[in-house]
Amino acid sequence: MKPEKAMPEDFSKSSPGPNWSTLAVHAGEEHEKARSALTDPVFLTSTYSFADSDSLLKFIVEKQPREEYARYGNPLEKTAERKLAALENAADAVLYASGMTAIAGLLLGKLRAGDEIVLIDECYLRTRDLCLETLPRFGITTRLVPACDYAALEAAISPATRLIFGELPTNPHLSVLDLERIAALGQRRGVETAIDATLATPYNIRPLDYGIDYVLHSCTKYFGGHNDLLAGVVLGSREKMEPLRNFRGLLGLMGSPQVAHLLLRGLKTFELRIERHNANGQAVAEFLAGHPRIETVYYPGLSSHPQHELARRTMRGCGGVVTFTVKNADWRQTADVVDAVRVPHIAPSLGGVESLIEQPLVLSYYDYSPEQRRQWNIPDNMIRLACGIENAEDLIADLNQALEVH
Ligand SMILES: Cc1ncc(COP(=O)(O)O)c(C=O)c1O
Repeated sequence: MKPEKAMPEDFSKSSPGPNWSTLAVHAGEEHEKARSALTDPVFLTSTYSFADSDSLLKFIVEKQPREEYARYGNPLEKTAERKLAALENAADAVLYASGMTAIAGLLLGKLRAGDEIVLIDECYLRTRDLCLETLPRFGITTRLVPACDYAALEAAISPATRLIFGELPTNPHLSVLDLERIAALGQRRGVETAIDATLATPYNIRPLDYGIDYVLHSCTKYFGGHNDLLAGVVLGSREKMEPLRNFRGLLGLMGSPQVAHLLLRGLKTFELRIERHNANGQAVAEFLAGHPRIETVYYPGLSSHPQHELARRTMRGCGGVVTFTVKNADWRQTADVVDAVRVPHIAPSLGGVESLIEQPLVLSYYDYSPEQRRQWNIPDNMIRLACGIENAEDLIADLNQALEVH
């Protein structure tokens, strides 16, 4: 299924789409709030009382929409879910305590012993760990396929396959999946599809518009946007979200009202921030691509990227994450470049206002053998830069001086 609105010819800001900032500021909120507060009040309560047994019965029998016990939800988390659903063009959303909780909430809430999933192998390493190391304990098997190999994807589907799971763009290699193809394959073979679009955000692409069944995000990243919270979300149809919401309530996989407050506050500036992340990512990628010390730049906004045309057709921008390798550098010389950078902090994560930089070998893949790092295409000279919202010229000048270091 094609999105209703024509996709842009290029990454231009004037391309059609919803009025993102109006949605980000107002969607999901009640106009009249408790005590006439302008912003949504934070209710710090673990339980909710009933006036009498009749009102309790009314809630139970008529399924009246109200709060009951905080493990099943709180008003602010519901506001955040409605706002995220509006941004993602989804009927419903289920908020979780972290991105990983959202992924686990989907996989464990949906799959049972004997089921298989097909995982596109280029992805956040903890997602792969969860699928390869934890799910087998519950009798669930994962088949890995390389990113963008659609023949391998189709061949990996068996009668036991329940879900195809991929990332867009992939972390940290920034490959761009063809969602129309994946959704069509899933529909043809009767297999549901899920896309972790954390690195894209709905501003850049909305997978549900392509017929994907579930879209997931680590809200820790661009949605929260300020490197100050952990949260995750799964979005899709009401019918598909209902069992996930029940499973979340059973285990209490949700975050706190304070986190929902921070998330809602971060979301107000969603469009402004993502436009800047996109612009910074593109400018930094172009600078690195022209630098003599750089070997490869992984960024879909560059014409050299293998899926550049697909990105141009389907995405409004490519986000703030730029991955690159330093020419003829061993791990130490690469670490010297990371250490010489002054503006970004050396830290995991991405999508916040502060730029963050890391060498995957040192940060996330240290415990992996050289063979495993080769298998997952993590060379020693790879750096991932998550551009924040600083001024692009400062980020570029900083990288330029850091690349002088030998
Ligand atoms: C693509 C992607 N998905 C999921 C996650 C996990 O999110 P969280 O750290 O909020 O659990 C991350 C974290 O880096 C990520 O990059």
